[in-house]
Amino acid sequence: MKLSGKRIVVGITGGIAAYKTIEFIRLLRKAEADVRVVLTPSAAEFVTPLTLQAISGNAVSQSLLDPQAELAMGHIELAKWADAIVIAPASADFIARFTVGMANDLLSTICLATNAPIFLAPAMNQQMFHQQITQQNLTALQARGIQLIGPNNGVQACGDIGAGRMSEPTEIFAVLSDFFTRDQDLQGVKVVITAGPTREAIDPVRYISNHSSGKMGFAIAENFAKRGAGVTLITGPVTLSTPNNVTRIDVLSAKEMWQAALENAVKNQIFIGCAAVADYRVADIADQKIKKSADEMLLKLVKNPDIIADVGHLTENRPFTVGFAAETQHLSDYAKEKLKRKNLDMVCANDVSEGQVFNADDNALQLFWKEGSKTLSLKSKTELAADLVNEIVERYQKTL
Ligand code: PMT
Repeated sequence: MKLSGKRIVVGITGGIAAYKTIEFIRLLRKAEADVRVVLTPSAAEFVTPLTLQAISGNAVSQSLLDPQAELAMGHIELAKWADAIVIAPASADFIARFTVGMANDLLSTICLATNAPIFLAPAMNQQMFHQQITQQNLTALQARGIQLIGPNNGVQACGDIGAGRMSEPTEIFAVLSDFFTRDQDLQGVKVVITAGPTREAIDPVRYISNHSSGKMGFAIAENFAKRGAGVTLITGPVTLSTPNNVTRIDVLSAKEMWQAALENAVKNQIFIGCAAVADYRVADIADQKIKKSADEMLLKLVKNPDIIADVGHLTENRPFTVGFAAETQHLSDYAKEKLKRKNLDMVCANDVSEGQVFNADDNALQLFWKEGSKTLSLKSKTELAADLVNEIVERYQKTL
């Protein structure tokens, strides 16, 4: 069964459609999923914790500040535990709070604290659904990778007719099972990804680095992991949390990244160099903090190893090798030159001339490989990563 053993958090917010969620949970249990229910206070006015406990087979969580609940399965644990979170019904109020990142009840806090995919089944009066602000909120959530299920059109509990009816339990169940089927198509494929910046020490308190946030590399890692690939993420210093089912190796300098990358490259089938690696490091790192004295100071830099070029030129156990090229001019020429010189299978060219790609939430890419090219238009890094992974997998599979 596709959902067998999957850990699903079902969030219920206040709305008459909550009664249908009981049937959805029953379907999940029948499919042998492990279900935890989180109720908002207003949802508890529509369905009782006792019913949900009996149907889900687990205690129902309701309060953010319940010391007893935090002892057992606290909000952060629940956020980490979930393979997926389904919020059904998702009220207009919850959608608004979630859009702006509020964490003022247990469910919104879990949603903010999780890496798991989140599905929303909106349910509300048709007028509320069509309000510009609700539509803007839903668009913003979709751009963040949240998946909407429904709503359906029809007669509403209030007597109105229109869009806003929660999708049927069987429809919500079908979307979730579809997701977990798609999810597993890369099982058995092993991928290494480098991400983030490197730090090249000058002395014990100073370093040379760049503005890479790791967002692009982490999004790629997350997408591969969601599809069932075995993922090793070698990252420079970033503030991002590790995506689910990803093995993370933290490094600081280019030399450390080089060592971890070469060690892992030969054990994997695909290698993606998304990190912004420092091309040079300081020749002589000072043991002690350098004291201010002369008006000018010269730092001697020496070349770092080129990680992706070394992987690309491996003669044994060479993985399918994908590099990036961050350029401020002559984008396609420089990218194609890197494709050749570093012996890559694909290069992803990033126009960083506007200073917008590093640390931004959106990105666009031009892909080049020996026989072709493709443009991936501007979108969130999460969505872009999904497109990029499709392209990489398509080319990789042709080499098999
Ligand atoms: O982390 P984000 O804020 O989301 O930003 C994403 C990004 C802009 C960092 C990313 O999309 C990107 O473009 N990464 C590559 C940045 C870069 O250093 O490009 P480059 O053209 O200097 O390097 C070309 C390729 O060689 C890259 O694959 C790089 O990882 C690799 N390289 C570079 C130098 C070096 N010593 N070793 C390497 O492996």
